[in-house]
Amino acid sequence: MGIEISTIRYLLISVCVTVLLYLLTISISFLHKVWWKPIHIQNLLASQGIKGPPYKFLYGNTQEMFKMVKETMTKPMENYLQSHDIFPQVKPHRHSWINIYGKNFLSWRGPEPLLCVTEPELIKEILNNKDGVYLKPETKGHVKMILGNGLSMINGEKWVQRRKLANHAFYAESLKGVVPAMITAVEVMLEKWKDHEGKEIDVYEEFRILTSEVISRTAFGSSYLEGKNMFEMLTDLVKLGSTASSNSFFKIRLPFFEKEEMMKNRELSDGYGRDYLSLLLNANKDADELKRISIQDMVDECKTMYFAGHETTASLLTWTCLLLAIHTDWQDKARKEVIGLMGEKSQILDEKCIAKLKIVNMIINESLRLYPPVLGSPRTIDRQVRLGKFTLPSDMNVGFSIIAVHHDPKICGEDVHKFKPDRFSGGTVKATNNNPMAFIPFGYGPRTCVGFQLRNDREQDCSGDDFTKILLYSFACICSLPS
Ligand code: HEM
Ligand SMILES: *[C@@H]1O[C@H](CO)[C@@H](O)[C@H](O)[C@H]1NC(C)=O
Repeated sequence: MGIEISTIRYLLISVCVTVLLYLLTISISFLHKVWWKPIHIQNLLASQGIKGPPYKFLYGNTQEMFKMVKETMTKPMENYLQSHDIFPQVKPHRHSWINIYGKNFLSWRGPEPLLCVTEPELIKEILNNKDGVYLKPETKGHVKMILGNGLSMINGEKWVQRRKLANHAFYAESLKGVVPAMITAVEVMLEKWKDHEGKEIDVYEEFRILTSEVISRTAFGSSYLEGKNMFEMLTDLVKLGSTASSNSFFKIRLPFFEKEEMMKNRELSDGYGRDYLSLLLNANKDADELKRISIQDMVDECKTMYFAGHETTASLLTWTCLLLAIHTDWQDKARKEVIGLMGEKSQILDEKCIAKLKIVNMIINESLRLYPPVLGSPRTIDRQVRLGKFTLPSDMNVGFSIIAVHHDPKICGEDVHKFKPDRFSGGTVKATNNNPMAFIPFGYGPRTCVGFQLRNDREQDCSGDDFTKILLYSFACICSLPS
């Protein structure tokens, strides 16, 4: 008996000690993460002159951030017809922190450090880096559900391969066939608008429909209708994701992708063409295992093209329309230019014409500058990095702010918040007072937008960029509408 009791006692003690040790380890690593590390990083950066709102235990700066955003959201923007000073309105926390702490500041999303960079030279250094130091951060929650392992999310070798495919698909030659379809899509929209004369139209909704049609054709070519079908499902997916519980979100399926019917149809009908879907399908069959793309990856790629291209383009068209509605003088100039070049018929608009649409191009650039559809983007570093004169510790996020540079009066002058397309009359270098990095609506460097790429290297007489051309086509048609 005596022996048994001491054995039990011994056992109990060792279990207790193990549990205590375990709890202690967890607490220490938790404290390390939410207390020691943030304080350490904060001090490390402060010693190099990078300041920011002080870290608050567990919450970081999220509470202040939400408070500021909520406050600005409740009141309308003042004076919006004259001034387009939208930075304090859409990112009030960033705007105020730049004013207090300087152009590059450290802030905290919970215990995660984020260095926000708004100095053009440093942004260039980040985006131009070819050593694979600045990575796309891992996504969580709904973003991960939607974009998964799509092109805009992945890193390394995998990204290099996929990017090649996308570049190929969005290459000028492949897009040529899309132009007539695009003009048709615009004309259908304009026809519909005629019934609304004198009534209000939600142009954002209209442009969303238009851009999904255009992207369907660009990315899915002959399978355009199926692509369109998928877009409708994706739109539902996003709506559900933002309203319903994440549980039901998981249950939604993309039926035809799961049945792979779309792909079979493809094989039966026209073989593979050169659009994005075809290239993905080919890659799915690639004999080289390293290059082969899984079905799930294909689904993620298609979703990525839709999300990256659809809202952004619709947003650009919408703001441009609003700006032209306010600034009727520029509306007249644009219309005059378009009609002067192609007469009243939009069908004869060809690439040569497009290159000559200087005023329309200036207007679009000014709209992209004032209302950039993509406000900024994060990167993450997994090792110590030198950025300018700073040394950044590993395991932190670095974000560049497009909206901050576009609205910086120190770069663009005191009229920075005004709509003045004229500033682009001498191209982007003049518009930015010799700081071309202060106009980066499509990003910069190897990860620039796929929809916007300079093609000079591939085809001599194709000096423009495909995506902007597409926009110009659509837009020129809209401009040619009689007022
Ligand atoms: C006005 C319209 C658009 C704007 C302002 C825009 C802006 C941007 C920006 C700023 C980036 C870089 C993000 C970063 O560096 O983290 C980007 C990347 C990307 N964009 Fe766009 N975009 C537009 C239209 C499109 C269209 C039409 C497509 C395709 C159909 C597209 C596909 C992509 C993809 C796939 C990426 C990721 C590229 C990569 O990571 O290699 N975008 N876009
Ligand atoms: C508009 O901006 C793009 C870069 O985003 C540039 O290639 C083009 O030359 C600009 N056009 C004008 C008229 O400034």
